[in-house]
Amino acid sequence: MAPLDDPRQMGRIVQRIAVLTSGGDAPGMNAAIRAVVRSADARGVDVYGVYRGYEGLIDGRLSHMSARTVSGILHQGGTMLGSARSKRFRSTEGRKEAIRELVEHEIEGLVVIGGDGSFRGADALSRESDVAVVGVPGTIDNDLSGCDYTLGFDTAVNTALEAIDRIRDTAASHQRAFFIEVMGRSSGWIGLYSAIAGGATEVLVPERPTDIEELQRRIHEAFAMGKQYCLVVVAEGDDAGGAFSVADRCGVGLAGVSHRVTTLGHVQRGGAPSMRDRILAARLGDAAVTALLDGEDRIMVGEINRGVVRTPLEQTWTHIDRTPQELLDLMDRLAR
Ligand code: F6P
Repeated sequence: MAPLDDPRQMGRIVQRIAVLTSGGDAPGMNAAIRAVVRSADARGVDVYGVYRGYEGLIDGRLSHMSARTVSGILHQGGTMLGSARSKRFRSTEGRKEAIRELVEHEIEGLVVIGGDGSFRGADALSRESDVAVVGVPGTIDNDLSGCDYTLGFDTAVNTALEAIDRIRDTAASHQRAFFIEVMGRSSGWIGLYSAIAGGATEVLVPERPTDIEELQRRIHEAFAMGKQYCLVVVAEGDDAGGAFSVADRCGVGLAGVSHRVTTLGHVQRGGAPSMRDRILAARLGDAAVTALLDGEDRIMVGEINRGVVRTPLEQTWTHIDRTPQELLDLMDRLAR
């Protein structure tokens, strides 16, 4: 394919970039890799894929990618490049080795698709080298500021929702209370969205302290109001613990109410990305390449109100994106 424009002719310095996925995988990461590779290819920029995130970078696991390397991955969950949570990269020594690899491969810009931990690493790498970094928000947790939604969140919530709908069938048949644990170590976005969309009675999120006695009272009240079942969505990082712990602590006070616990776990991380995640991946992968060609460094590209915005990387984790009180209140009003 003929390049759309030649970066050298246009006076840009970036001629070779690399892309990696890091941290927990998220549906849409493959679509984002594809967008980065094809967008770079269309502009005459060379692209390398880094296998297994920062771990692979330290070990020199880089390979040249072409438009054909990323054929047939758009609709697949996971990440074809693999991912890792790298301990070695947290040390200056580890990062030195990673930088050595980038310099050896003459890579001037790096696209990092991941969450806050991955961005902290990218920020440090850029400060310690001449390599520019651009982040693409990729985590099911939706806990980064600088974007309305992170890649994978929409798919993960839809997966949780499908499970909640199925649980409702059996909960209603047996007039039971269910404690359903969803992912979110320090963030309640998946919990809140799946609870509202799934018509849950209660949601427990890390952003709001949980009062077990009050929860027991509300569960009894739900049945007293004539409800046939009660769904309590618990974000894994809630201060009262996960769904098993909440059910244990609640159980004694639930005389007369049969209850069960379901943990959805890593099911939420897999599967084909939704339409929203594919479109987001296409836009942000392309925007990341544009940002590098524009000479940007240490920023994240994200979508806000349908527009692509660039946010200083550091802000994405320092300005914590908490679940809004307004939606927690909405949830409470509708759970009657
Ligand atoms: O990627 C985010 C996330 O799925 C969190 O919601 C969860 O707490 C964590 O990753 C689980 O990580 P791991 O797969 O390493 O156990």
